[in-house]
Amino acid sequence: MKSIIIIGASSGIGRSTARIFAQKGWRVIATARRTDKLEELRNEAPDCITTASIDVTQNDADTRLLDLIKENGGVDVVMNVAGIGKQNKGMDTSIETATSETNSTGFMRIVSAAFRYFADKGGGHIAVISSIAGTKGLGSAPAYSATKRMQNTYIDALDQLARMRKLNIKFTDIRPGFVRTALLDDNHDYPLQMDVDKVAAEAVRAIEKQKRVCVIDWRYRIVTALWSLAPRWLWVRLPVQTKD
Ligand SMILES: NC(=O)c1ccc[n+]([C@@H]2O[C@H](COP(=O)([O-])OP(=O)(O)OC[C@H]3O[C@@H](n4cnc5c(N)ncnc54)[C@H](OP(=O)(O)O)[C@@H]3O)[C@@H](O)[C@H]2O)c1
Repeated sequence: MKSIIIIGASSGIGRSTARIFAQKGWRVIATARRTDKLEELRNEAPDCITTASIDVTQNDADTRLLDLIKENGGVDVVMNVAGIGKQNKGMDTSIETATSETNSTGFMRIVSAAFRYFADKGGGHIAVISSIAGTKGLGSAPAYSATKRMQNTYIDALDQLARMRKLNIKFTDIRPGFVRTALLDDNHDYPLQMDVDKVAAEAVRAIEKQKRVCVIDWRYRIVTALWSLAPRWLWVRLPVQTKD
């Protein structure tokens, strides 16, 4: 029986991913801050799913993760889904710093601990949900796009480090476009929105196949390829924004 710990499994993409892995017979440790939501998830498949609270913004989130993995007899995959995101055209500093605390500092707490765990264990698999927002700086959500870019770069760095240290650690960086979840529920209208269960199914396939990078879905693969080609002088003039 394979096992996975998911950080950010109380709603949205993380919850749907947890359900799919449980349906496939994996042992799932579902974590987040809202324990009532995690309990609802556990009740759907109590034989496969265990739950625990982790807040990635807490200083001890890395040791909490490692303790949980130990208590549960080890894992094959650590998956970080935890994240927040808001549009911030008004440049509210508190939105920028909160986004950074969760998506940058919190992300590094989890992923660095996972790296140490798999280095000691002799191998394993780290999967993360980043976003297509990391492709370029997005004017409507500066901290969100910058932190997602950091996540992409961090995984690239750890992949290189694992090879330098001859560690058998695999990495999967999953980059969805807009998904219908609570994260987008902020009175804005977003284009090309995708169903959360379809996105989770594609994320699970990417993890099972140990894909290195997976942009979801095919339409966003075209969009991000075009974005990547745009020179800076053009990019800053493009009206890349969600509809208000
Ligand atoms: N929706 C989209 O369009 C979209 C597109 C691309 C990428 N993503 C990424 O997908 C991931 C999941 O987002 P979602 O769309 O599924 O939204 P969501 O339903 O709001 O899920 C966010 C998850 O992150 C957890 N989380 C937030 N802060 C946390 C913290 N401090 N510690 C631990 N867990 C925390 C939440 O759990 P608690 O609140 O219970 O802690 C929740 O389980 C995010 O990283 C997001 O950036 C989303």
